[in-house]
Amino acid sequence: MSFKPPRGTDDLIAPQSQVWREILATWEDWSARYGYPLVATPILEATDLFERGVGDTTEVVTKQMYTFTDKGGRSVTLRPEGTAGVVRAFLDSGEQGQWKGAYSGPFFRYERPQKGRTRQFWQVGVEYLGVEGPVADSEVIELGFRFLRAAGVSQLELRINSIGDPVCRPGYVAALKDYFVGLRDTLSEDSRRLIDTNPLRVLDSKVDRDQLGTPPQISDFLCGACADHYTSVRGLLESLEVPFVEDTSLVRGLDYYTRTTFEFIGTGLDSAQNAVGGGGRYDGLAEAIGGRPTPGVGFALGFDRVVLASDRTPGTFLDAYLVSEVGPEPALSIAAELRRDGLRVEFDGEGRSVKGQFRTARRLEVPVILVYKGDRQTIDVQAADDRVELPLEAVTKHLKGTR
Ligand code: HAM
Repeated sequence: MSFKPPRGTDDLIAPQSQVWREILATWEDWSARYGYPLVATPILEATDLFERGVGDTTEVVTKQMYTFTDKGGRSVTLRPEGTAGVVRAFLDSGEQGQWKGAYSGPFFRYERPQKGRTRQFWQVGVEYLGVEGPVADSEVIELGFRFLRAAGVSQLELRINSIGDPVCRPGYVAALKDYFVGLRDTLSEDSRRLIDTNPLRVLDSKVDRDQLGTPPQISDFLCGACADHYTSVRGLLESLEVPFVEDTSLVRGLDYYTRTTFEFIGTGLDSAQNAVGGGGRYDGLAEAIGGRPTPGVGFALGFDRVVLASDRTPGTFLDAYLVSEVGPEPALSIAAELRRDGLRVEFDGEGRSVKGQFRTARRLEVPVILVYKGDRQTIDVQAADDRVELPLEAVTKHLKGTR
């Protein structure tokens, strides 16, 4: 029996989990401010959903999926991303018009593990469906930006691009194909195959990255409608005071994108894993998975990377530690009363010495120590610059007042 988690997965425990919990609370707050209700979809989906939605020539689908046949003979996959599942849930619900959902949970990709890149990772994200205009793109991007700032990611760069739509992208893809045909002999076998099936994906190739020279750029091929949409998105971001840089090589690794694409870069992280998140518009996705035409835009953030990039440090989440001079059983009911009043309180359940209990309180760095000597009328309340004796009923009010 090994006590290690499987390769590419991690345990999350205190104190690191405390930063997680705080930033997740920040996420719940910010996603709610922008009108997103929670959406939770299954971790397992039919394999077909990702093949058709994400694209059967993408790296995610060809190399990274955890796919298996269940006992009923169906091919199922641990979700490698959230957008396809959320769009499926929307279509299944029969809802119409503007629709939003925010999610948070584990995702799975069979990748080579390294810092900030794991086989099970956590994403938070939003999907905004039913709105075609640039207001939706801009609102989504602004939310991602404001949340990351609030999460303590101060070294942050937003990169944006437009990758066109079914009207203008074919012209670009044809030009790209001609260009890569000229480079064919210098490219890996995977990329050579992609020249014929999906030339855009050659641009994401990690092995060939340095061989690609200067391929044609989508910005030279955008049709009028896509160019106008992109101009409006940039204008709205400027009016919202969201700083961005344009990156004409930003095509993203999933096939469903149309028009706007963007990435949030944590510029303080190692460059191989510095994308803290990304997203874009995907107006063709609903149809690709067999549903009615539905425009959409969204993003997902790699939560592990958000935490790595954040300058928040683990702190205590407790309001007080209760030291008992009369053992753990009386402490249980004293703590219960304080907890019912809304305080976050911990105490020693092992019956250790008073000295030992103080040591634990200091190690936990609690702001307040409460000493119970056996009398509810005289609780000793010790804070850094304040020491008073109070009846139990007055403790919570006193602590809330001094906070
Ligand atoms: P994605 O770019 O594939 O997009 O993933 C989003 C983020 O998830 C990445 O920027 C990265 O931070 C994180 N991530 C991806 N793989 C790993 C990994 N192996 N280990 C750690 N973090 C990872 C999507 O997933 C799209 N569904 C985003 C979206 C939503 N587009 C529209 N709506």
